Amino acid sequence: MRVLVIGSGGREHALCWKLASSPLLTELYCAPGNPGIAAVAECVPIGVMDIAALVTFARENRIDLVVPGPEAPLVAGVTDAMQEAGIACFGPSKAAAQLEGSKTFTKEVADAAGIPTARWERFEAAEDAREFVRRRGAPIVVKADGLAAGKGVVVAATVAEAEAAITDFMDGGTLGAAGSSVVIEECLVGPEVSLFALCDGTTALSLGGAQDHKRVGDGDVGPNTGGMGAYSPAPVFTAALEADAMDRIVRPALAEMADRGMPFRGILFAGLMLTEDGPKLIEFNVRFGDPECEVLMLRLKSDLLAALLAAVDGELAAFDLRWRAEPAMAVVMAAKGYPANPVKHSPIGGLDAAAGVPGVSIFHAGTEMRDGRLVSSGGRVITICSVAADLHAARAAAYRAVDLLDWPEGFCRRDIAWQAL
Ligand code: AMP
Ligand code: GLY
Repeated sequence: MRVLVIGSGGREHALCWKLASSPLLTELYCAPGNPGIAAVAECVPIGVMDIAALVTFARENRIDLVVPGPEAPLVAGVTDAMQEAGIACFGPSKAAAQLEGSKTFTKEVADAAGIPTARWERFEAAEDAREFVRRRGAPIVVKADGLAAGKGVVVAATVAEAEAAITDFMDGGTLGAAGSSVVIEECLVGPEVSLFALCDGTTALSLGGAQDHKRVGDGDVGPNTGGMGAYSPAPVFTAALEADAMDRIVRPALAEMADRGMPFRGILFAGLMLTEDGPKLIEFNVRFGDPECEVLMLRLKSDLLAALLAAVDGELAAFDLRWRAEPAMAVVMAAKGYPANPVKHSPIGGLDAAAGVPGVSIFHAGTEMRDGRLVSSGGRVITICSVAADLHAARAAAYRAVDLLDWPEGFCRRDIAWQAL
């Protein structure tokens, strides 16, 4: 199999690293990739949104399977474009990717399928939205309807805060078109977990749960980020809760999407709140999380490529995945100033020493080579992952590796997996 992965983050490094171990693989490409990915795949300089160039590359290089990592090309229709060119692509169609691209679409699917989720209402006029929150009171959640790169959700503790968010999104246009309509939701309370499911249009296989760390600072303070760390499995997400969430959230969504003529193939990532009334859906994403993907790949024993092919071919009903029992965790090293203003192009050393810690794997997220040196090129720069007999040992190994890095311009959270520890 000749495989093309699309993306350049830690998630795509972990996918490439896992795919590289498949006995089915003959050639692995990654567009655009990064210096870490270059060790396991041939990187090709095509951007993730240059769909025409990706299709041309895939055709000319006789690619058998395309694996997009991020949501943006999926929402833009990369799967449809590949299929029109006769190339198999592991990911949802543009229509099915609305589960991430539009909050309204997701809430409509959830309601039609009877999926437990927060009560909601959509507004196209700011004054109506403000009137609604004044009537409902706080706490209340304000969400921009479109894709807003993690900046479109405000969990408002007061009515004034909710009104300010509505004004910013709708009158201020701070998120562009993504904020021209808003969804206002009931505030759910409980621990949050992410559930990942491999889907082939009709069958969903659980890949297990993970907990993310969205705020930039220790103790969950500071602005939201793409994710500063993750671990899996999460002890609060018991096998019974996982089975319940698969039965009441993931499978009904799959059935509803099939009924709508837009069957979901790919990774369905359900953000869940474990409320007193059981798991409730916060949101769907249509791809692996980052850094959740890294921890799942470390725990997956089965051949990832065979699993993705089974999903593309609609054969998951006869498929089964095997997992390591040990927990895994990921600590994201970000450039100082992230998320607002990460410093760029600072040199990174000590990677070999860090990678030598037993149980540790290192994935590149935002790095590049400049004048023969590895430097940072983004906000989230390096993902340090570990697997060990228990979470205490995994955490000790991950932070030992962090301390061996020579990167004064980088930082990380020191409390990853606090929920379980
Ligand atoms: P989202 O972008 O939808 O994942 O939302 C970002 C974060 O906002 C989630 O991870 C939750 O922590 C929080 N959130 C979203 N919706 C709700 C809700 N209905 N109740 C409480 N918190 C929420
Ligand atoms: N870490 C959360 C996400 O990838 O959306």
